[in-house]
Amino acid sequence: MPEIVTVESGATVAEALRDATSVLAGAGCDASRLDAELLLAEVLGVGRERLIVDAGAELDAETLARFDQLVRRRAAHEPVAYILGRKAFRRIELAVDRRVLIPRPETELLVEVGLTLPFGASVVDVGTGSGAVALALKSERPDLEVWGTDVDGGALAVARENGSRLGLRVEFIESDLLDGVDRRFDAVLANLPYVAEGTSLPPDIALYEPALALFGGPDSLDVIRRLLGMVDEVPLVALEVGLPEAVESLARRAGFPFVDRLRDLAGHERVVVARR
Ligand SMILES: C[S@@+](CC[C@H](N)C(=O)[O-])C[C@H]1O[C@@H](n2cnc3c(N)ncnc32)[C@H](O)[C@@H]1O
Repeated sequence: MPEIVTVESGATVAEALRDATSVLAGAGCDASRLDAELLLAEVLGVGRERLIVDAGAELDAETLARFDQLVRRRAAHEPVAYILGRKAFRRIELAVDRRVLIPRPETELLVEVGLTLPFGASVVDVGTGSGAVALALKSERPDLEVWGTDVDGGALAVARENGSRLGLRVEFIESDLLDGVDRRFDAVLANLPYVAEGTSLPPDIALYEPALALFGGPDSLDVIRRLLGMVDEVPLVALEVGLPEAVESLARRAGFPFVDRLRDLAGHERVVVARR
């Protein structure tokens, strides 16, 4: 990797942030100032607001060296969440690493669908990754019986660690979708891979996030299509999608007469809710 001199030794907080922001902007990071602040706050073990109060404080050589390392990682497009090892999702904070997709804000819609379930209902989060949907739902609705499945053992290990650390009782099962999961659910929630194979993605995603979490075959629908073939007896299925119309017709063909599409905060139809 080329040498990146991010900050001069003896720099103040304000100078270190200014230099790092310019390095990150030059590397193509959209939120360069925010990222620089998050990384420096991490190194100092303080909240971001402290950086404003202490803008004139001088940083010692060790702090600057550690900050420099993190800035280099971000300049190589590693997402901030992997560098920090955590990501907030609804009311919980999840540990994340490269074995799991970084939970996205739009996925919170699936949790909102889960919140509408009747008392004591059983629900499974298929393709649970870090456990985001399953754990957030359990944290907000302890009455629900919540499961999570993933085909990837590494992802499941992260989900299980998150469950134990948060003290939330969710059962995580290694499974190809619902294959071999011998139980009936009142609802299935799933954010499965829905990017078409061959799609060019930004480097933050393409270089770091697991391909198994992203790609859904040539038309992007392979995994969702297979799941819809396995939910014959489930009354409610909510899917995060990239192609809402196509998934709505798949759901109707799978025997769901009632289908709604929910928009995310950016105004995109992001979740298809199928009921019978
Ligand atoms: C888009 S990620 C979503 C992760 C998490 N639900 C979230 O929203 O942050 C998709 C997840 O589905 C898993 N997955 C892919 N194919 C699967 C399959 N056939 N069966 C179960 N899980 C699968 C991946 O390993 C990955 O963890």
